[in-house]
Amino acid sequence: MGSDLKVTELSPLEQTALLTQYARALDSRWARPILGDALADDIIGKIDYDFAGLGVPASVVCQSALRAKMLDDRVRVFIAEHPDAVVVDLGAGLDTGLFRISPPATVDWYSVDLPAVIALRDRVMPVSVHGHSVAASVSDPGWPDTIPAERPAMMIADGLLAFLSEPVIIGVFRRVTEHFRSGELAFNDYGRIGWFSRIAVKLAPQRMFSAVGSQWGYAGFKDARVPESWNPRLALVEEASLAHAPEVDLFPSWIRLATKASGRFKAGARKARILRFQWPKAPA
Ligand SMILES: C[S@@+](CC[C@H](N)C(=O)[O-])C[C@H]1O[C@@H](n2cnc3c(N)ncnc32)[C@H](O)[C@@H]1O
Repeated sequence: MGSDLKVTELSPLEQTALLTQYARALDSRWARPILGDALADDIIGKIDYDFAGLGVPASVVCQSALRAKMLDDRVRVFIAEHPDAVVVDLGAGLDTGLFRISPPATVDWYSVDLPAVIALRDRVMPVSVHGHSVAASVSDPGWPDTIPAERPAMMIADGLLAFLSEPVIIGVFRRVTEHFRSGELAFNDYGRIGWFSRIAVKLAPQRMFSAVGSQWGYAGFKDARVPESWNPRLALVEEASLAHAPEVDLFPSWIRLATKASGRFKAGARKARILRFQWPKAPA
């Protein structure tokens, strides 16, 4: 298929969806992929965009592929325990998790993103009877209104929270437990982003870093329990560092060594982590 689909109408924030999809596409081209999402590459091939000009480095390919894999693994476990689940991907972009996981017919999968991204998603994504698009900003408290509230909900957010302000993030963390009777919320997190890292991201020569750095909205938190203080109905049930995942062995050599070295220190380990919260809390 020719790459004839132009995306000039996407804002810089919305274009970050192209970046993460491209990173997963690059992973799928590697001899030893971490995620192996060939559909991501097919979708990139449908879009007319200067992907190579983003300058996505191998370290970002590794991180993007691994965090998607870690979130997929958690969704699979949840679905196995709750075959009537709804999966809700917040800031879904063009992510093809629905097709990687291929859940049973009893599961419904909702992809929430800004309207222009959802319009693109609906054009490039294969049709699935389980898949539903929600064109809404998560800053609008009405975003979950069309999603069943009574079924167990597995919420994921991959690459979204860094682009939101703290009040919007807190609003999302409160809204999920107001709307969904029970569930989990799993997302990738970078710990606390200091001023040095922010400047380094803005000054890096690759276009992808200046694009992401200009949209970065949230400095984050060190203590994984901070979201419990935003919403006492949430219980932290997992803090997993990417640096400790077995898939790090698939990283190219210098990235593997640097990742394992950073994982030996708490500060390094929390720079790339998956956090998972549950509600309602188990009785004490
Ligand atoms: C870095 S991309 C990640 C996309 C996808 N999760 C992935 O892994 O490829 C961030 C996504 O968040 C979406 N986004 C940003 N702000 C949003 C908001 N307020 N409501 C919904 N989606 C938002 C962007 O449009 C973009 O698709």
